[in-house]
Amino acid sequence: MVSLFGKKTAGWVGVDIGSSSVKLVALSQSGHEYQIDSYAVVPLPPTAVVDGNVENVGEVSDAIERGLKICGTKLEHAVVAVPSSAVITKKLEISNTFSDMELEEQVKIEADQFIPYALDEVALDYEVIGPVPNHTTLNEILLVACRRDDVSSREDAVNATPLKCEIVDVDTFAMERLLPMLQTFAEGALVGLVDIGASTLTLNVFQSGKIIYNREQSFGGNELTNAIHQQYGLDAAEIEQHQRAGDLDAEIVDMLVMPFRQSVVQQVSRALQFFYSSGVQSQLSALYIAGGTAGISGLAELMQEDIGVPTQVTNPFVSVRVGARLNQERLKKDAPMLAKACGLALRSFDR
Ligand SMILES: Nc1ncnc2c1ncn2[C@@H]1O[C@H](COP(=O)(O)OP(=O)(O)OP(=O)(O)O)[C@@H](O)[C@H]1O
Ligand SMILES: [Mg+2]
Repeated sequence: MVSLFGKKTAGWVGVDIGSSSVKLVALSQSGHEYQIDSYAVVPLPPTAVVDGNVENVGEVSDAIERGLKICGTKLEHAVVAVPSSAVITKKLEISNTFSDMELEEQVKIEADQFIPYALDEVALDYEVIGPVPNHTTLNEILLVACRRDDVSSREDAVNATPLKCEIVDVDTFAMERLLPMLQTFAEGALVGLVDIGASTLTLNVFQSGKIIYNREQSFGGNELTNAIHQQYGLDAAEIEQHQRAGDLDAEIVDMLVMPFRQSVVQQVSRALQFFYSSGVQSQLSALYIAGGTAGISGLAELMQEDIGVPTQVTNPFVSVRVGARLNQERLKKDAPMLAKACGLALRSFDR
């Protein structure tokens, strides 16, 4: 089987392959403390990643390699993720008397019954979660499956650089790993984390720190970038640069960014309505916004007012030491964009 979970050692680079850019985060651990040693955000051509698929492996690996140079050259191993929309997860209950080989066979037999592809086109992995409650002979098994191409295109992009791809994770697991870095949550509390990227808005909801809901919608910062391009003629790379630096022309901010900010709030509110209509009784106790689009100034405040849930911009590095080479102010601005890459880098450590 392909390792979607893999083994644990230290010091892997989290590599988030987004549709507009590749983000790299390198963490190290001393005692219980984490440190961010380096990171990079490298733009991708629009042809590289389309609808969540790596369409051009060469363009992606070029960007990773450039990011690696920005980070420093000592890094050797990487963790990447497939989008949760490309993944089927299922909990199985299987006898705890099976040997490892028998278990693997049984997982394949059960997987074949609900996966809509031929098994040889599919990458499968599983993890034994523990005994089924009130059962002495059954273990709960988490099965994760996705198309082999979705895994191999990402592995190939990494392996074409000096990095070796250690693990292909799932992006929801990266976000789940990130959650304890943001704050300690009360048992049972529902917490939302919405990732608003260039082309996709993803709502993740966690209960007691575990993912219970995930849904993507097609919406993101590209709409704003395109509008600015059409009305003011700036090219996309220039616009992104100004946005990240926070120095877009005041007229553009008034005419386009502010109305767009309102539509981001509407989209998130819509995503939450979908979640609430899935039958959940209680309200979210907190909402975190991540992804580049979360960098729009005043977005969290406006969102909190509209949806009535305490809302904050995600900063995965609030309780993390910052390496001497890094600019703290710059990192704070880039932090929401680095959320997924940070969750992937955290895969390196036993918690
Ligand atoms: N400070 C900012 N203010 C507003 N928008 C910003 C800011 N910084 C980045 N963006 C926008 O965020 C988007 C990039 O975010 P991100 O890197 O999270 O996307 P991605 O991961 O490449 O895309 P996706 O997750 O949708 O595949 C771009 O559309 C960019 O214009
Ligand atoms: Mg993204």
